[in-house]
This record gives sequence, C-alpha cells and structure tokens, in this order.
Amino acid sequence: MAQFTRVSRSVGLITLQNPPVNALSAVARQGIVDAVKRALSDPKVKSVVICGQNGIFCGGADIKEFGTNITGPPLVPMIHAIEASNKPVVAAIEGSAFGGGLELALGCHYRVAHSKAKLGLTEVTLGLLPAAGGTQRLPRLIGVPAALNLITTGRHVTAAEALQLGIVDQVTDHNAVDEAVKFALSVAGKSLDARRISTYPCPCPSDVDALFEEVMQKVRQSARGAIAPIACVQAVRAAATLPYSQGMEREQELMATLFTSGQARALQYCFFAQRAVGRWSMPSGARWDTSKPRSIHKAAVIGLGTMGRGIAVALAQTGLSVVAVETQEKQFMEAKKMVSGMMERGAKRHGTAPPLDKITYSQNIQAVADVDLVIEAVFEDMALKEKVFQQLSTICKQGTFLCTNTSALDVDHLASQTRNPELVVGMHFFAPAHVMKLLEVVYGPRSSPQAVATAMQLGKKMGKVSVAVGNCRGFVGNRMLKPYLEQALFLLEEGATPELVDGALEEFGFALGVFKMSDLSGLDVGWKVRKGDGLVEPGLASGPSARIRQGRRYSPLGDLLCEQGRFGQKTGQGWYRYDKPGSRVPRYDPWLHSFLEEYRTQHGIVARRIDQQEVLERCLYALINEGFRILEDGIAAGPEDIDIIYVFGYSWPRHRGGPMFYASMVGLAKVLERLEHYHQAHPDVPYMQPCNLLRRLVASGSPPVHKWKEAIKKLRSQL
Ligand code: NAI
Repeated sequence: MAQFTRVSRSVGLITLQNPPVNALSAVARQGIVDAVKRALSDPKVKSVVICGQNGIFCGGADIKEFGTNITGPPLVPMIHAIEASNKPVVAAIEGSAFGGGLELALGCHYRVAHSKAKLGLTEVTLGLLPAAGGTQRLPRLIGVPAALNLITTGRHVTAAEALQLGIVDQVTDHNAVDEAVKFALSVAGKSLDARRISTYPCPCPSDVDALFEEVMQKVRQSARGAIAPIACVQAVRAAATLPYSQGMEREQELMATLFTSGQARALQYCFFAQRAVGRWSMPSGARWDTSKPRSIHKAAVIGLGTMGRGIAVALAQTGLSVVAVETQEKQFMEAKKMVSGMMERGAKRHGTAPPLDKITYSQNIQAVADVDLVIEAVFEDMALKEKVFQQLSTICKQGTFLCTNTSALDVDHLASQTRNPELVVGMHFFAPAHVMKLLEVVYGPRSSPQAVATAMQLGKKMGKVSVAVGNCRGFVGNRMLKPYLEQALFLLEEGATPELVDGALEEFGFALGVFKMSDLSGLDVGWKVRKGDGLVEPGLASGPSARIRQGRRYSPLGDLLCEQGRFGQKTGQGWYRYDKPGSRVPRYDPWLHSFLEEYRTQHGIVARRIDQQEVLERCLYALINEGFRILEDGIAAGPEDIDIIYVFGYSWPRHRGGPMFYASMVGLAKVLERLEHYHQAHPDVPYMQPCNLLRRLVASGSPPVHKWKEAIKKLRSQL
C-alpha cells in the first residue's frame, strides 16, 4: 500500500499505492508509517519524497472507513512523525491532494506540484473538518483569511493558485516526482527548523475578534444551517488564538462532534448517492455496465429560448460541434448574441478561449440532417413538439438520437411520432442549463438501452450529474414538486403568508422559499400548464366549487395573480413586490396581504395561526409521499436517484441528504403518522394519503435508506 525504494542513491521514495485515488485507508496508513520508519533508519537515505502511484498524490481519507471501527495507525501522529523527521521530506503532488492528502503534504517540509494538480481541504463537503492538523497548519502557512476561505468552502485550488497562496514551493510542467527528487537532493542536510509548519506563528490581522465575527456571520448565512462550516471557523480561530497543541485539541473536539452528527451522515450519503446514480438500471433489466453508449461528435439544439441557449453553450463547451436552430427572427438574432456572450464570460472565468466556432446557427431545421443527436427545446406545447419530432424523424440521418427537454410531457408519445422510437429519450436540463448540474435522462418503454447510455454519457461529458428516470408526467423532480407547491398555496388560503412559508423553508435550508422561487421562475409558466390542463377558471369566483377541480381541492391563488399580470420578478410583482421589473430583492407587498384577506373573506375562510412545523410537515411530507409513489411505480430505481435530483436540481439542502434520506432520518413511522393526520384533516387532497410503499416499509420495521431498494424488490415479489 506504500512502496519504499531508494532513488538517485540517497533519496527515499515512498509511493502510495491504493487505487483509484490512493486514499488513506488503514493499510495505506500502516504502509506509510513503515516506509517512513525505513527511510529514517536507513543511513544511505538523506532526504525523502512522498508521492502517489498513477499520477494521483492522494484523494484523502477512505470514506468507506467512516462509521466503522477505525483500525490502523491514526493520521495525526503519522503526520507529526513526518514533520518531526530530521531528514527533509518533500511531497510530490500530481493529480490531486484533497482532504487528508493535503494534510499529509502539509506535514512534509516542502511541496512540489505538477501544474495540472488540484489541491483542497475538502472535508467540509462531507460534513467534517480537516482534523489531521489541517485547520492548524494551513492558517499558519498562508494566513487566516485565505485558510478560512479554503477550509470553509472545501474548494479546489489549481497548482498556480496554490503557489501564489504559498501552499506549494514549486510548480512544474515536467514529471513532478522527478522534480521532487531533484528538489530533495538539493535540500538534503539543510536545517529544517524553519520548515515545520506547526512551529510557525499564525499570521493574523490585529483585530482577530472583528475578523472572526464578520467571517462567522458570512459563513452562517451561506451555510443555510450546515454545522461543519461553522466548526471550521471555530477551529481556525483556535489556530489564530491558541498555541499549536491546544489548537489541535480544539480541532479534535470539534471533529468529534461533527463526526457523529446527522449532517455528516447526510453529506456522506450524498457523496455515495452521486456515484450510485451513474450505475443506472431500467425495469427492462438494461444496465449501465451492459449498455454501450455511442460517441456523439455533432449535436443540434432546436429552439433557442431560455433553455436552448444554455444547452447549446453547454454542448459547445464540451467540445462538440453544435447546430443551433431557431425559427423566429427576433429570437434568432437575440440568441446568437446571448450565446456568444455566455461563452465569452465562461471562457474568461476559466482562462480559456470561447468555443465560438463550435456553433453554427440556422433558421432552417433542415440544417440538422447530419448530426448524431438532437435536443429539442421548443415551447412546452405537445402539438408543436409532435410536429418537430415528425420533421426530425425524416430529416435526420439514420440512427440520430432524438431527445426532448420537455419539463413534463409524455416522452413515449413523442417517440411514437418518429420512425425509430427506440432512439428517443428525454434530456431534461434545469435552468440555466449551462450552469445547473442536474440532468434527468428520461426513458420511455421503447427507448433503447443504447439511447439511455448515450444520453447519460453525454450528460457526464457536459459535467452534469445525470439520473436515469422513467416516463411519467413531470418525471421525478417536477412530479414531486407539484404537491409541495400546492400545499404552500393551501397554507396561504388557511392563514399563512408568503413570508411565513418561505421563512420556514429557508430555515430548513432551501436557498429560496417556494414563493420566492416561483417569483424567480415566473408564475406564468405554471399558469400556462394549468390552462392547458383545463384547471383555470377566470375571475374571483366564490362558493365552494371555486376551489375544487376534478373533485379535488384546488387553489386558484396563482391564477388570480397571473390575471393581474403579476408574473413575479420579470414584472416586478408576484408573491412579493420588486423595485422594478427584473429586480431580484423581494419586498413585503401590502397589496398581496390585503388580496389574501379579501380572498379568504370571499370564500368564507377564517384565517388561523399556522406555525413553521406545519409548513414543513405539509410541504415536505407531501413531496416525500410522492417520492414513495415514484419508487412504488418504478419511475426512480432507488431513493438515491430521487435525493440526487432534489439536491442538484431543486436546492434541497445537501446537509439534509435529499428528501428520502430526510424521511429516513425523521423516521418513516413519524412521516406516516403525520401524513395520516393531514389526510384526515384534508380528505379532499388525495396525494396526502400515505403511499402503500411507505406503509409497507413501516410495517417491515422501517429499514435504513440503503436497504430500501432491496426491500422494495422483496415487497414487489410478494405482490
Ligand atoms: P422559451 O419560450 O424560452 O423558448 C422556446 C424557443 O423555441 C423560442 O425561442 C421559440 O421561438 C423556439 N421555437 C418554437 N418553435 C420552434 C421550431 N419549430 N423550431 C425552432 N425553434 C422553435 O422556452 P424555454 O423556457 O426555453 O423552454 C423550452 C423547453 O424546455 C420547454 O419544453 C420547457 O418545458 C422546457 N424546460 C424549461 C425550463 C425553464 O426553466 N424554462 C426548465 C426545463 C425544461
């Protein structure tokens, strides 16, 4: 797990060997301890280089060990022994040095990095802090503000930035191990007194209290209830105010609290869930490891509105040739300008050239004849999409995959409009498509495994987290969102305010509450859909039937706002008031509040006091219940798929692990009991009736979330 060799006569080379990322497992740690001992006791060895095999220094701790009885030598004394060595130790950083990997490098006396290497103390993303001295050494090395930035965000820095910050001593374009060996030869025998970071004083601005107060405030705001970033600030504060050994004690104390927290479990669950969704399967038995994707070199986007523009940019940034088709002259001209601007801004951020020449524009759909894959993003109108798919089916060369970005429409119906329905899948991006990480890949009953594999692989190449889901109205994300949105409206009818509902959801951890989010996306979007579904009845009708559609409770509140031209941020008015159309800061709107009062009077509703707990239970449990139905229907293969969709597409707080994980943390029996309670209180809301799968999971002893897939399979086989 760590190989020792002597190179250039006097350099002890220790190579970590634990594929794929040389994680610091118990065996790897033992290997390092043994190799270091050997290097220090070998009189021929004058200096030491630590590197990782296969071009990766070290990806950090072995997460699989978390939650088990950790054996093997602990990291802290191991790193102390390296730092205390009287022979210089140089870290040769290739690929990545993350988490414990970077802490190991900080224990070395020098660091040489390859120019393509990435470094970071990433522990906070797993609900932890760098507890092998990282919070104590990094501020001593690069100062408190820079260390706080890295440790509280877990962000990766390039080798160039690491050099600028002072984390590494040298960056090379050549072989980093060879350069590190040369470096080790050059420092052999030199004094190490000034190279042991733990002995450095911590450089800190004079007004420590003011600095930490300001940082704490900022971190609290962006953490949205996550505890790890707060603990990171506290640990760095210890580095700034206490001697090293006491700082280390504080680091350990804080880590002990985080380690056993539900948030760390949730974040680690997300880490594994993100990987699990790549191993997709379909009810037909088709799977990720038996379905071969086809390479896509040239793609087309049809419709250059909000979504099409972002999709075209994302495809071009992946290196594909893109044909972008838009039929309306005004949209066509505007889109060309916007797409170039988006690519230029993206390129500036990454210090690269904008891939402007990758996109060709056309107003004629015939231009897509020779592409390998098409993504349709025209208006959400079935008749229009049917026509586009019929055209594509005749225009495109044999074998072209035809994908739709529809938010909710029937992918299989679109497939039926084509000559080769097996080539049709949904590729449901989220706005803005070149930024948002989530992609739902929607397979219909006739989609071929190769079409799914190709869309999944293309999504991955575009840097998306792709989740394969079945075909139903709204797929996974939007289907679950519907009861959530409806509950929020019902709460307003019963006496809540947008401020109260949003406040509860934001305190839970959402970036934006449901009403602020609706104002941002535009209230007219849902209005159009409801009109299409025949749900909208104009005017403020009164009487009980005004709030019932198709035998179920319905709230026309959103429709009434749209009738007033209140579409949200874009019109400057929605559930909140904005300073002007397009402004982003929501303000209390007295009009809205008197409108709600008038509405309640008209419908004979007596407003009652609603608390935050009711808001959370009704909105979230309604959404979770739909999640169980999705699992029951086989639309999502497992709870991980749903959770990843919500974390990456709907800003569900990652430290709560996604809705299904959250349900397991609350306790399935409790979720069931509350749903039963609310269903009894609101029998005209059928989706509050607890789903059968939830009942059966509770009856079978509420297995933990990682056992649900198995439990669902078993329950299915008993039917
Ligand atoms: P949009 O209204 O901004 O743009 C649609 C564009 O398609 C317009 O520029 C229109 O001129 C063009 N178009 C219409 N017919 C065409 C044709 N035959 N050939 C070429 N271009 C044509 O719509 P948006 O918001 O971009 O939505 C597009 C699709 O993406 C819809 O199906 C929508 O449900 C879906 N979607 C939208 C999201 C959003 O947040 N806006 C999120 C995810 C999916």
